[in-house]
Amino acid sequence: MKAIILYDALSTGGSTDRIIDSIGEHLVKNGFYVEKAKTPPRADYGFLEEFDLVLLGSPIYNLQLSPNLSGALNQSNLLKTLAGKKVATFIICGGPEFSAALLYMPQLKLRLLRSEVIAEKIFGLAEKNNPQSPIDFANEILSKMPVVAP
Ligand SMILES: Cc1cc2nc3c(=O)[nH]c(=O)nc-3n(C[C@H](O)[C@H](O)[C@H](O)COP(=O)(O)O)c2cc1C
Repeated sequence: MKAIILYDALSTGGSTDRIIDSIGEHLVKNGFYVEKAKTPPRADYGFLEEFDLVLLGSPIYNLQLSPNLSGALNQSNLLKTLAGKKVATFIICGGPEFSAALLYMPQLKLRLLRSEVIAEKIFGLAEKNNPQSPIDFANEILSKMPVVAP
């Protein structure tokens, strides 16, 4: 199985990098081939065709998704390429998970109505610094994917 983690963050080496690396490592340990890539607003996302699963997420800055991710959702063929695809979404933020579920996750999920969203996760106040949280998310994703042959 081939997965790609598509993300954006304004920081380097921040919580987004830590969380996506942990998710990716756990998927690799369970037989996935995993790449990660940032989301320039005007790129051609046709290359996503080759992946079985796309993980798509972003930290929140000033109530919004990271600007390059929202730019890609608005201005490129990203959404078109994700239509019909298995997608797992994640949000990383400083506030509580319950408010992020209302305020931030819809900014992603409402764009993905033509995709098959198999899992979603908010890494907020309670979960962002828990090293088990990315692993639990990866396990949830694995439980929704076909079994990988050894
Ligand atoms: C400039 C700035 C604005 C932020 N605005 C919000 C916000 O509106 N809501 C929220 O829940 N968290 C907010 N945060 C918290 C970030 O989403 C959180 O710290 C996240 O882990 C940042 O990811 P990073 O470390 O990979 O950059 C903000 C952080 C920064 C630096």
